[in-house]
This record gives sequence, structure tokens and C-alpha cells, in this order.
Amino acid sequence: TQPKIIIAIDGHSSCGKSTVAKQIAKELGYIYIDSGAMYRAVTLFALRNKLAVDGEVNEQGLIDRLDEIKIEFRFNPENRRNETYLNGENVEEEIRQLPVSQHVSPVATIREVREAMVELQQEMGKNKGIVMDGRDIGTVVFPSAELKIFMTARPEVRAQRRYDELTAKGQEVSFDEILANVIERDRIDSSREVSPLKQADDALTLDNSDITREEQLDWLLQKVQQLTTA
Ligand code: CDP
Ligand code: CDP
Repeated sequence: TQPKIIIAIDGHSSCGKSTVAKQIAKELGYIYIDSGAMYRAVTLFALRNKLAVDGEVNEQGLIDRLDEIKIEFRFNPENRRNETYLNGENVEEEIRQLPVSQHVSPVATIREVREAMVELQQEMGKNKGIVMDGRDIGTVVFPSAELKIFMTARPEVRAQRRYDELTAKGQEVSFDEILANVIERDRIDSSREVSPLKQADDALTLDNSDITREEQLDWLLQKVQQLTTA
């Protein structure tokens, strides 16, 4: 059998990181971890406890209550997915909604929040055989990951994909609002002081603006094969 590796996938918001991460994890029989879901769950806690209101986050208030937040992933055999739990409650759907998207980037700038999440993430990867996607996976969480990918796509393409996804679920959303959110999150994520989104020196770039899901999977599989048979 081939040695298990760590695959770190970082990049801009809504470019297809989790899609390709799930594809490759399934193909290789690896565990997939969505690190963004963890920041989203913390944000949902903040919203519910009025520590995030109208785009403003009460940083110290949230830091003081971090030890009340327990985040886990549980496998759902019905859809064969890992779903996100906040203090024992399945929040997989709720964390994808716009109020969370609109507050998550400020929450993710908080150093104490990041430290707690990174510790959990490193624990999840200790046996390798894991694909994790996020913003700082190749730079901070697993700097010695065997394979690092930096993904991007044009902002309008990314907003359109999110828009299609939400409208397919019957949600009424505005394309312009989504596009503004995608651009604004990229700006905050790239310019924050703690673990900003940036390409690791040894990461391979994948721009999937004009390629299909099948093509991106083939591309990534080839990279994995080159590594594990080398
Ligand atoms: O899927 P999408 O690109 O919309 O975002 P996500 O991966 O769910 O991440 C949501 C937000 O969490 C990002 O915009 C970042 O602000 C933050 N995040 C982070 O700071 N570090 C990570 N490793 C993952 C997400
Ligand atoms: O995880 P991230 O926020 O980067 O993006 P995602 O949730 O995996 O993907 C956003 C949307 O783009 C999903 O609806 C995908 O099906 C779609 N998509 C893709 O991932 N890759 C393509 N080559 C084309 C579309």
C-alpha cells in the first residue's frame, strides 16, 4: 500500500476547495476536514450569543467564552459526510447561511480563536491520510504537508457558483451581495495580521475558472500519484 500523506488545500473563498478536497479524499480513502466549517461554527456561537451583531464582533467577549465552544465532526452514514456539530448540535446547514458568511472573516482574525482551531486541526491530522482545506493549512497548520495546493478562480465565477448553489436550495439571494461578500472576505483574509491567506512557497497553483470538476480531480490525482510513486 502507498504511504499516507497530508494534502493541504488553501485558496480564495468559494473557488471549489471543499469540492475538490472531498473528491480526492473519496478517491484515496482519506479523511476530509473542512477547517472553514470550524470558524463558521465559532461564528454561529458568536451570533447566537450576541457577540457578533451587524458586522461587528465583540472580540474580548468571544475570547472569554471560547472554552464554552466544543466543535466536532460526526460521520453521517446517510449521506456519507462528516457534519459539523457545535456543542452537540448539528449545525451543518446553518453555518453555510449568509449571516455566518458575513461575520466569519472578522471572527477568524482573532488570534485566540485561531490558536484553538489550529490545535484541533493538528490533532485531527496526526495519523496523516487527511485532506484539509482552508486558508492557512499549508502555511500554518501543516507546514510540512507532502502536497500543498493553492486554489483560485475569477471572483465573478466564484460568486456565480455560490449563487447557483444557494438558489438550487431554494434560497433567495442576490448575486451582487454574494459577489461583494466573496471579495470582502478575500480582502480581510489576505490582509489580516494572524495567519493571512497567502500561497505557501511550495504550493502548486490551481485556477479552476475554466475547468470542470472532473478535470480538477484528474489534475490533483496526477499530482498525488507523482508523489506517492516517486
Ligand atoms: O467555503 P468558503 O470559501 O466560502 O469559506 P470557508 O472555507 O467556509 O471559510 C469561511 C471563512 O473562515 C473564511 O473566509 C476565512 O475567514 C475563515 N477561515 C480561516 O480563516 N482559516 C481557515 N483555515 C479556514 C477558514
Ligand atoms: O470550498 P470552497 O468555498 O472553496 O468552494 P466549494 O464550496 O467547494 O465550491 C463552490 C461551488 O463551485 C460548488 O457549488 C462547486 O460545485 C462549484 N464548482 C467547483 O467546485 N469546481 C469547478 N471546477 C466548477 C464548479
